[in-house]
Amino acid sequence: PGVAPFVNEPAADFTQAAVRHAFPKAIARIRREFGATHPLFIGGENVVTGDVLDSYNPADVSEIVGSVCQAGPAEIDAAIAAAEEALPAWRATPVAERTKCLFEAARIARSRIFDLAVLQVLEVGKQWDQAHADVAEAIDFFEYYGREMLRLGADRRMGRVPGEVNRYRYRPRGVAAVIAPWNFPLAISAGMCSAALVTGNCVLYKPSGLSSVTGRVLADLFVEAGIPAGVFNFVPGRSSVMGDHLVGHPSVNLIAFTGSERVGLHIMQMAAQVAPGQRHLKRVVAEMGGKNACIIDDDAELDEAVRHVLYSAFGYQGQKCSACSRVIVHEAIYDRFVPRLVDAARSMRIGPAEDPACVMGPLVDRVAQQSVLEFIDVARAEGSVLLSRMPDGGPGGVDASQGCYVPLTIVEGITPEHRIAQEEAFGPVLAVMKAKDFDQAIEWANSTRFALTGAVFSRSPAHLEQAARDFAVGNLYLNRNCTGALVERQPFGGFAMSGIGSKAGGPDYLLQFMEPYVVTENT
Ligand code: SER
Repeated sequence: PGVAPFVNEPAADFTQAAVRHAFPKAIARIRREFGATHPLFIGGENVVTGDVLDSYNPADVSEIVGSVCQAGPAEIDAAIAAAEEALPAWRATPVAERTKCLFEAARIARSRIFDLAVLQVLEVGKQWDQAHADVAEAIDFFEYYGREMLRLGADRRMGRVPGEVNRYRYRPRGVAAVIAPWNFPLAISAGMCSAALVTGNCVLYKPSGLSSVTGRVLADLFVEAGIPAGVFNFVPGRSSVMGDHLVGHPSVNLIAFTGSERVGLHIMQMAAQVAPGQRHLKRVVAEMGGKNACIIDDDAELDEAVRHVLYSAFGYQGQKCSACSRVIVHEAIYDRFVPRLVDAARSMRIGPAEDPACVMGPLVDRVAQQSVLEFIDVARAEGSVLLSRMPDGGPGGVDASQGCYVPLTIVEGITPEHRIAQEEAFGPVLAVMKAKDFDQAIEWANSTRFALTGAVFSRSPAHLEQAARDFAVGNLYLNRNCTGALVERQPFGGFAMSGIGSKAGGPDYLLQFMEPYVVTENT
């Protein structure tokens, strides 16, 4: 009672002067907090360790956003002990109270939306609008999963036989390890953690090392929202030091992971092994990569298609699992569409995310920069480069050497056999493929091991229907971009090698964090 229906948090409205001015003010404020060392948070206490990792601004790697203490196996053991100790009381806490913590977290995040957004601008190089959208998505997860748990928390009566009452209910799985990526540093972390918490599990949260200052802010948010000691533990750490120890720990019941295919597969293998003393099977929820395609049909509205493809491919530098990295163009429209796409991409301003004029920025770190540069070498060898653009230098321009920039790259002459048509780019690299007809476009779109997102631009109702039936992805968008799924409106996630588990921000998501059971009473 008293809980209003779910609505998505609105996007930033930059036509409002107050919104435009809030960003530079928040940037100055957050910069003043740089340089702090952030401890772990275990069993309700801050814990300082000797091993510390710096998180830097990808637009200027000499600028340290913050330093974050790193957990090793000993700290993981301590956090698991704290979680196990807190579990009985948290599990027994009425759903309405657990839910209240999420609603409170939403309220606090909303009151600090600009500070939270700006931290991402500086820590992972997100453009203003996208950083704001990430915080809004985190708020949406709190609000939506809170309401979902109220729905699922009520007993469901099964069967109709007189003299018997069957109640269908859910219990939490126990201790959840949440292993989160840097590319949606607050939203995806908030989604996985809040789902685990509201369903009654205790959490060990390991953010990516590239966004662990934002990770610490999430921990603070949960504490302020009233999550009790031991229920939520913040344990950033180096995967090579503590990753296997966490995933393989016999007391971990559930692993919620979002990240690369390589790490996801490793986690699934580790989780499948039953350690001595382990008395349960581990549940893994893994969201991994994509090799997403936008199809341009011969009758597509080109102005729209160009705009949406650029946003899908180069928004946040292509560092989204949902990003478009293949545009499959019907040959009848190829010579009209491709030059327009390239011209429009040529006009995109590239530079630091803190400058709102720049629509594309640096990659998240030097390692990503190196690996995308290697991917671009493959693209150059396999196709012909239509565009390769770095930030404009010169007076008043950007010194690209200070940041993790790679060229925005568009390559044509690509067919499904090429590596750049198969491997995830996770950078601003777009492969252009010329298909002989719409059937071949769909066939090519489906010709990877992934099945995450896709888009089709067409005016033909028959082709849109064919795509809805045959384009095999978890999130298909007709006549719009293929990124930016909204909680509840577009429950998000793929299948095949894109991951295992049900859709984030959708009605089945929380079920994965619980065990269903039935109580039958003979009356
Ligand atoms: N949910 C994001 C999107 O749709 C990706 O994680 O872009």
